[in-house]
Amino acid sequence: MTKISIKVGNRLKQKSACLVLPAYEGRLKTAFAEIDQLLQGRLQKAFRSREFSGKAGETLLVHSAEGGNERFLLVGLGAKKRATSVSLRNLGSQIAAYLNERHIGRCLIDVNPLSLSKGGEIEALGALCEGLLLADYRFDTYLKQEEDPPSSLQAVALLIGSSRDKAAAEAVVSEAEAICRGICRARDLVNLPGNHKSPLFLAETAEQIARDQGLHCTLLPRAELEKQGFGALLGVAQGSVREPYLIVLEYHGGTQEERPIALVGKGVVFDAGGISLKPADKMDEMKMDMAGAAAVLGTMQAVAELKLPVNLVAVVPAVENLPSGTAYRPGDILTSLSGKTIEVLNTDAEGRLILADALTWVGRYNPRVVIDLATMTGACIVALGHHASAVLGNHDGLARELIKAGERCGERLWQLPLWEEYSAQIKGDFGDIKNSGGRSAGTITAAAFLKHFAEDYTWAHLDIAGTAWADKNTPGSPRGGTGVGVRLLIEYLRGQCA
Ligand code: BES
Ligand code: MN
Ligand code: ZN
Repeated sequence: MTKISIKVGNRLKQKSACLVLPAYEGRLKTAFAEIDQLLQGRLQKAFRSREFSGKAGETLLVHSAEGGNERFLLVGLGAKKRATSVSLRNLGSQIAAYLNERHIGRCLIDVNPLSLSKGGEIEALGALCEGLLLADYRFDTYLKQEEDPPSSLQAVALLIGSSRDKAAAEAVVSEAEAICRGICRARDLVNLPGNHKSPLFLAETAEQIARDQGLHCTLLPRAELEKQGFGALLGVAQGSVREPYLIVLEYHGGTQEERPIALVGKGVVFDAGGISLKPADKMDEMKMDMAGAAAVLGTMQAVAELKLPVNLVAVVPAVENLPSGTAYRPGDILTSLSGKTIEVLNTDAEGRLILADALTWVGRYNPRVVIDLATMTGACIVALGHHASAVLGNHDGLARELIKAGERCGERLWQLPLWEEYSAQIKGDFGDIKNSGGRSAGTITAAAFLKHFAEDYTWAHLDIAGTAWADKNTPGSPRGGTGVGVRLLIEYLRGQCA
């Protein structure tokens, strides 16, 4: 990861390899008047000829013959009133990509003009740092070493005007580092191929995080799951020779008596669909069906690094969904941990089965809030595409808080209704509940199913099917796992601590 430091000083008096100057659209002439004197009016010329106007994504590189900064790089941010944490994160990734391509290993970024809104300066800085830190994320574990490996920015200094802000700015940098390590952890887990990612591997990863961060980790192996009666989870697991686990991680950053916030993540290490087999096309991508689990594990790691003053419990049901001679079948009736019976109509609707038992189990911790994350339904991609996750639940206040956290950090959520009427679609004929409600409102009927197992507490369900995986490279997020959820949960949890 790029090393980021804070520097206090005047931008006219620096001696860097490259001074990066973020520029909002408009008023460029006045904003860069002093600098342009050092550059003999070359900026003015570029502004006048409209070579550079400050539009988002535009760049202008000017070399200097003076003894100070060797280069000046202007980067457009677009209209100031439309700037968000996402534009600043993109700015960070864009700066890193631009300099990497030109083999410029260090730079100084003038962050003074960034202020998003009054009081938003610090958030702006955090978002910029995330963009810089995530720019060189790659999953290249299985690639032969290239002869000319892509270079990456080694050191960035952020230039601020006043030494009064230095400590706060440094804190923001180290927070961004912890969040990005959590995001990269989640991405790595999602990108790891199915043959190297058993439920046991997820369990061992959780144990490793617990050791590193001083968390408490408990694993429930098959024998324990059988003893307790995790019938729904075990039904899904029985098609694979790989052993299922229920993973529990606990973090105590709050007071003793404070009830924990619970995070539950779907951990299907590979989803072939089971006997209701998926089509071959894109089935490879179903190694991402544990992205909910990855988000929860990455978040636990980051929360512990950040030492947030809150109590948390994370629960991850980890299984593999394969067809085989021992696999569960359509028509099977499973007895869930809650005692409710489930009629399996489609073995590919496995996420709700393992989550049902996990949601029942987490009730033991008397949580004040439960949030589950799952790559739950293809229908969610039909509804929202890849730009937002769906949020549903039994408490509109919680949904609203999550939506607001998403707006602040740029991981958008959109609420879908969970009206009682939808439950009719999943009322069972031979068991209490059916695991599929048919084609209409697939994302909602999945949540309606989960609602039966989340009756005892305040609960929200995030369907991240469309946001957990990127089909193509975007700045700061190459094709593959996005790490969605980590940033959102941290933002939500920070709000709970304040
Ligand atoms: N893991 C899938 C959902 C999914 C699809 C996630 C595409 C990401 C991308 C889930 O287990 C599933 O197969 N859901 C079924 C439910 C149906 C059988 C009721 C679906 O969405 O088709
Ligand atoms: Mn499935
Ligand atoms: Zn699935």
